[in-house]
Amino acid sequence: MVGEFHAPVSVAMTGASGAQYGLRLIEVLVAAEREVWVMISKAAHMVIATETDVDLPAKPERLAAALIERCGARPGQIRCFAREDWMAPVASGSGASSAMVICPCSTGTLSAVACGASNNLIERAADVALKERRQLILVPRETPLSAIHLQHMLDLTRLGAVVMPAAPGFYHRPASVNDMIDFIVARILNQLGIAHELMPAWGT
Ligand SMILES: Cc1cc2nc3c(=O)[nH]c(=O)nc-3n(C[C@H](O)[C@H](O)[C@H](O)COP(=O)(O)O)c2cc1C
Repeated sequence: MVGEFHAPVSVAMTGASGAQYGLRLIEVLVAAEREVWVMISKAAHMVIATETDVDLPAKPERLAAALIERCGARPGQIRCFAREDWMAPVASGSGASSAMVICPCSTGTLSAVACGASNNLIERAADVALKERRQLILVPRETPLSAIHLQHMLDLTRLGAVVMPAAPGFYHRPASVNDMIDFIVARILNQLGIAHELMPAWGT
């Protein structure tokens, strides 16, 4: 436990299509009593504005307040960090340990993480997760995939990260877009070992 919550989970939203996956993930993590550390890239803000009616400010304190209100989180349960906040706990291996999910993950961030670029806090936090052997989950959304994308996914998988493309299945007969979003979010929670009731496990 960190403070009054369970171990924090870092959620980075980058500029791939699928902003709703990331927003729903944050919401569900809050409901699961997790502390959530949020980073949202500039491009992700554009995608959020394009794909949803959710209005999120850029400044970290105001962003945190907006997400706390949106998710019904308790004060302090969501913390947000700026693009170059190198003092954030996720920026160093000596910071509090947390699993990290990049959702959605642009191919740009995927490639930067695979190369260890660390040019912004999202890339640095992912680099820290890899070097500290912490859980790192990337949810790319792109199609078709070039050899560059596939090579970076292979490199990251070999480094211990989990690459899970935002590719919802249809065998649960989704009746709405929300069902398809929850399909992906449920898979992420399964990876994180967080119990949920978003959809039944296969075979139950
Ligand atoms: C509406 C919109 C949709 C986009 N969709 C994708 C996408 O599905 N996959 C992707 O890799 N990039 C997509 N992009 C491009 C990325 O946002 C762009 O490459 C950006 O530089 C990524 O930056 P970031 O990784 O720092 O967020 C999209 C951009 C916009 C504005």
